[in-house]
Amino acid sequence: MTISNDDDLIKLQEIGRIVADILAAMGAALEPGMTTAELDGLGRELLDAAGARSAPELTYGFPGATCISVNEEIAHGIPGSRRIAAGDLVNIDVSAEKNGFFADTGASFAVPPVSRVVERLCRDGRRAMWTGLRQVGANKPIAGIGNAIGTFARKNGYTLVRNLASHGVGHSLHEEPTEISTWPDHSERRFMNEGLVFTVEPFLSLGAEFAEGGEDAWTLYSEPRALTVQYEHTVVATRNGPLVVTLPVGAH
Ligand code: CO
Ligand code: CO
Repeated sequence: MTISNDDDLIKLQEIGRIVADILAAMGAALEPGMTTAELDGLGRELLDAAGARSAPELTYGFPGATCISVNEEIAHGIPGSRRIAAGDLVNIDVSAEKNGFFADTGASFAVPPVSRVVERLCRDGRRAMWTGLRQVGANKPIAGIGNAIGTFARKNGYTLVRNLASHGVGHSLHEEPTEISTWPDHSERRFMNEGLVFTVEPFLSLGAEFAEGGEDAWTLYSEPRALTVQYEHTVVATRNGPLVVTLPVGAH
């Protein structure tokens, strides 16, 4: 969507804060021995308490309130009986709707003990996302996002998953502009109009180039198999640059 008035922005910011706070709470609750279904249960409880509805459930009939992907899984993991173990890399993606507005955020969390390599991957995954977010602003080229993230990944020796794109959001979970590449894409000629709402969610990896489906209809795996992180914010392109709406309360 394109934000055209303060009332829309206030409603988008409200659902943005809700998903951000739930993501933070779920990340803080992560501990070895807990199942991904238990973690998702916390997410559902918090969504209910906030008067919000899970976006993937509402939109696609996803079997869970949030997407939880562990290790070789990189996205759209179904919460279930899998037990989180020490040393796991867990991605939590929270997207939801309230009052007709949608926001989408995600992050990867390493469960201690964390190796140096994974610690660095997580730190750099966040940096990759912020590198892209800094390219956001009214009338700027969308291609600037993928170009900046591509340069960052190459300089630091990482690969980027190149078939999981960012997307417009706001009135629905996935909307125009679709297929926003977070990697260099020479065919990308679009510009960000003022007030455009979309996500920036690069998948930074120790070797994966693509995401591929498996046995179920949802879970995506790294290909080739390699540890991969995703960090995601919902952002508005303004004349003053990026306005991130999915920061948790107290964050800056
Ligand atoms: Co997401
Ligand atoms: Co998204």
